Parts: sequence; C-alpha cells; structure tokens
Amino acid sequence: MSSLNDPIAATTGRWWEHAVVYQVYPRSFADADGDGVGDLAGVTDRLPYLRDLGVDAVWLSPFYRSPQHDHGYDVADYHDVDPLFGELADADAMLARAHELGLKVIVDLVPNHTSDEHRWFQAALAAAPGSPERARYLFREGRGPGGDEPPNNWASVFGGAAWTRVEEADGTPGQWYLHLFDSTQPDLDWRNPEVGDMFVEVLRFWLDRGVDGFRVDVAHGLVKEESLRDQELAEGELPDSESVNSAATASMVERTLRDEPMWDQPEVHDVYRRWHDVLAEYDGDRMTVAEAWTQTPGSMADFVRPDEMSQAFNFAFLLAPWDAAAFAEVVTGSTEAVGRVGALPTWVLSNHDVVRHVTRYGGGALGLDRARAATLAMLALPGSAYLYQGEELGLEQVEVAPEHRQDPSWFRTGEVGRDGCRVPVPWSGTAPPYGFGAGAGQPWLPQPDDWAGVTVEAQLGDPGSTLTFYQAALAARREHALGLPDAVEAGTDGDVLRVRRGDLLVVLNCGDAPAELPAGEVLVSSGPLDGVLPPATSAWLRV
Ligand code: GLC
Repeated sequence: MSSLNDPIAATTGRWWEHAVVYQVYPRSFADADGDGVGDLAGVTDRLPYLRDLGVDAVWLSPFYRSPQHDHGYDVADYHDVDPLFGELADADAMLARAHELGLKVIVDLVPNHTSDEHRWFQAALAAAPGSPERARYLFREGRGPGGDEPPNNWASVFGGAAWTRVEEADGTPGQWYLHLFDSTQPDLDWRNPEVGDMFVEVLRFWLDRGVDGFRVDVAHGLVKEESLRDQELAEGELPDSESVNSAATASMVERTLRDEPMWDQPEVHDVYRRWHDVLAEYDGDRMTVAEAWTQTPGSMADFVRPDEMSQAFNFAFLLAPWDAAAFAEVVTGSTEAVGRVGALPTWVLSNHDVVRHVTRYGGGALGLDRARAATLAMLALPGSAYLYQGEELGLEQVEVAPEHRQDPSWFRTGEVGRDGCRVPVPWSGTAPPYGFGAGAGQPWLPQPDDWAGVTVEAQLGDPGSTLTFYQAALAARREHALGLPDAVEAGTDGDVLRVRRGDLLVVLNCGDAPAELPAGEVLVSSGPLDGVLPPATSAWLRV
C-alpha cells in the first residue's frame, strides 16, 4: 500500500451521496411509439428493469424542445418536452412512475448555450448591434479589415472557429457570435443578470414538477474571461477542436496548466451558490452534479464546496489508462481533493460523449473482462457511481458508417464523433431493432447485425452474462459497501490495484499474468478466480 487518504466528508444520509445513477440517453433507450427514436413513454415502460438492475436513480439526457442539432443539447424551450420524446404529461408520468418504484430522477440542464431557435436568439438576430436582445449572448465586432476575422482565436470544441458571423437587417455582413460548440448553440452571456434570472425560473419549473436533481451541462463554461482575449497556446498545445477535453486527459501529476480564458472562471461559482440556495428551499435533498472538465482535481473540488453543487463528475477515473498505478493515483488524488471541501467523490467509466469502456480497454473478450473488472472496483469506492445505458450489457462502441453519422462534430471536423456509443439499446429478439421500438421500424442509428446474444432478453437469468454480473455487483454494493467508512486507501502491488475501505479489500489485476489472491472471504468477483486473481479480473474480499 503506497498511499493513505482520509477524506473528511461525513456521511449525512442524503440520498445521492452513495447513489448509483443510471444515465438514459432518451433517443436511444426505448421507443414506445415506434418512430425509430426513443421517447419518454419508452423510458417509463422500462423503469422496472432499472429498479430490478438495482440502481438508485436515473439521469436523463435532455428531452426539451430542440431542433436536435446536438440531440437535445441545443434547447429551444426549457419549459417544454420535444414532440419527438412526447409532451410534458409524459415527463410527469415518467417522474411519478420512477418515484413509485423508489427511483430518483435527475434531469439535464443546459445553461451554457441555447439553441439558435430559442426565442432569445431569434430576437437577438432581429435586433441591432448593441441592443439588449444581443446582450444576452456574446456578440462582438470582427477583427481586421471590414471585421472579416473572428473576434478572437477560440476554437469550437466541435471543430473550426468558435465564432459565426451574422447578416444584419440591411443585408450587410455584421457582428459575430460566440459558440463554444456547434454554430446552432450560441453561448449565453452569464455576466448579464437576465440570463441568471431565466435559469432560476427553469430550475423552479422542474423542481416544482418533482425532479430530484440536475446534471449541469458544461458547468465550467458559463462565464468567460470578460475581455474575451485570445487563448495563448504554448507550442504543441492544440485548440479544443483537436483535443476535446485534452486538459482533463493529462495525468493527475503536476503539469503546466493550459491557458483557458473560456473555461473555469472564478465567477462561474457565483452561479452555483445561487442555485444552491434555490434548491435548499425545496424538500427532499434536491441535488446538482457538474459536468466540468477541469484541469486539476482541486478545480473539480471547487464545484462541490459546501455552498455550491452536490457532486462533480470525476472524469479523471474515466480517462485513466488501464494501469494499476494510474487508477490508484486517481482514487487517492480525487478523493483527497473533494475531501478537503467536505464532499464525496463520484465515479464514472462511460457516458454519451466517450468511447464505451469495453472498447477503450481493448475491445473483444479482453476489453469486456477489463471493463467488468474496472466496474466492480469502481462500485466499491466511497461516493456515488454513474453507469451509462448499455454498459450493463457489455456493449462495445459501434462503428457507425459515415452515411449514418449524426454527431455535429463529425460534420465540423470529419472525425468519427460520438455516435458509436449512442446506438439504440437491444432489448429482445434476434434482429434489429431488437425490441428497441414497437414494430419493425429501424432505429435512428443502425444497430449491428450480431447483437442477438447481448439483448436484455438473452442475458437475463444467464449466470455468465454481463447483465447478471451487474445485478450481482450492485447487490454486493448494497450488502457490503454501503455503510463502510468513506476513508479509502489505494495502492499497488505490482500490476494489481489494491483498495482498502474498512474491512473490504478490492483487488484489480491490470497485468498480463495471474496474481496471488489475498487471504480473506471472497464476496464477489468480476470473473472466475480458481484460487488466483487472473488478469483483467477484480474481486472484493472481506479481510
Ligand atoms: C456536454 C454534453 C455533450 C454536448 C455538449 C454541448 O459536453 O455532454 O453531449 O454535446 O455538452 O452541450
């Protein structure tokens, strides 16, 4: 054991502190009306499956009214459901059914930008430069002769410049507006108090309907450095478009921080202090979780100070390579960082933006063994864990043919994009759509022909299946890990990660050879043990 970590966080009994949250990507989860796109009624139908899986809460990616250029992360109306997914009554029915089953519901909030079809942006386009309508967004004059160059050198995360020029009412080329993502996602100006007030209304709208929490999209991006100055890129550093979230991919060791005038500005925390107070007015421990790709564990922890958000995604775990020392470093570093502000960590291995972890770990049988092993180790850690739909089936990243790709980053960069982790879930049957939709209509992204063996139907009740393993792992968490002290000690023994929490010892073999299985009672393992700890296998032992 090489490191000791003793977080100061005290368990207070708030439901989310040790919750396992299952992420639903509504387009791809279940399609009740058979139009090829998942919907809220489909989610409601499948909630008993999630209860039986053994999760505590569901987080749904956006289902608000949206032209769907970024599949709902471009919101045109925060107070309504997109007809593709149903209507407000379907959201209410989903919430009611979830609560009846004992599941909490977290909705996605997208405050960094609106859709270009939002009434505010439409009004801004129709209004003149300098108008209050334009002041809700970041409109600026261009640089160079005729203002033909963008106002600064920022790149869009999805590729190309982060600025698009508009045509003014008289038909002449006009101002530019900032969009850190697609050009259909204009960034709001959070220094304008109108913007903050509007989002407090949005929070209240959904809190009043009974949601239990919010996953906050691009939580580190809302406020930009006021000057909107150029980003200074050191030699070898890439703009965002070529290194999506590259800052977070760096190891947790000391490093030179990248200059990022568009991300993680100190004023962003004022937003979350205000939201904290709004949520505190409601009963039931309503919560927030930040999607904040920060550069250091310390800046991640800033989002979960006692008067700010409840949780922040710990992307360092997801980004760690398949290496015992790297995992140990992340467990220790991130737990210590949030412990310093009295918070608990979170853990996540897959979501709708990243390559599925089976594939990241090498794919095929080896990738699956490693993914199961990493998941089981994750579920022993203090704090809360996030699962992404389909990982409980062991799904791999799908190679989506170019003609079917829909991710805006594909259109802006020609890079493959994120469609491969968004292919609709296979529920039953032996051919597409595998029970995803009513009838035989084909889903919005084609499913592979060889998924008959990985459907929910095929895996339920099969003792060797990944689904059965997830059910067992979640049951083991409830039985053996909840209630353990939050202090965790992580280290390595050769290629084996060893994590100690109370009387629970977790071992994860990241090497290529079998390792010795420590003495103790084996509580659960990610694969067969045969008296040793085989490669790509993890186990929990009571010691
Ligand atoms: C977040 C979302 C991602 C979306 C982006 C812009 O990173 O997770 O899916 O494309 O924000 O809203």
